[in-house]
Amino acid sequence: MSFSEEQEALVKEAWEIMKEDIPALSLYFFTQVLEIAPAAKGLFSFLKDAEEIPQDNPKLKSHAVKVFKMTCEAIQLREKGEVVVSGSTLKYLGSVHLQKGVIDAHFAVVKEGVLRTVEKGVGEKWSEEMKGAWSEAYDQLAAAIITEMKKEA
Ligand code: HEM
Repeated sequence: MSFSEEQEALVKEAWEIMKEDIPALSLYFFTQVLEIAPAAKGLFSFLKDAEEIPQDNPKLKSHAVKVFKMTCEAIQLREKGEVVVSGSTLKYLGSVHLQKGVIDAHFAVVKEGVLRTVEKGVGEKWSEEMKGAWSEAYDQLAAAIITEMKKEA
């Protein structure tokens, strides 16, 4: 699998717009994830005892941003030949998610959350092509993390 230059450009274009609105989009992302899978609430330290999704929680923002940014990085697959995550390693990501009780099926939930958030974030720039590019990038990243989870399990 490799990305076309057009797909790369679409992923980057969306991120350039989204990064101007991180707090709101982070909140939106978690709202979507919990709407799709309410039980996922119990996995996150910053959500499990909260009545509502906290408005301005650094950990919440950090998870959302990492998911978005690492998905963006996954498009570099074309140049690098493998998924590379900066500031972390796939092995570490595999191990954290395994420890937290994350399972394969959760990755599909988060994917839907990501796509909805990109759609919301970019407004009229949203297109089927942009959705396809983000889907592919996310799938590559998720597969790489799941591979590490399986190695360790
Ligand atoms: C933690 C990234 C998908 C649940 C983390 C951390 C990162 C990360 C970087 C922080 C690790 C640390 O420094 O402690 C990602 C990426 C994902 C992804 C890039 C998708 C491709 C998921 C999914 C779930 C999930 C699908 C489950 C719904 C969690 C939980 C934590 C965590 C529960 C611990 C957070 C806490 O309670 O403070 N993730 N994640 N992640 N992730 Fe993910």
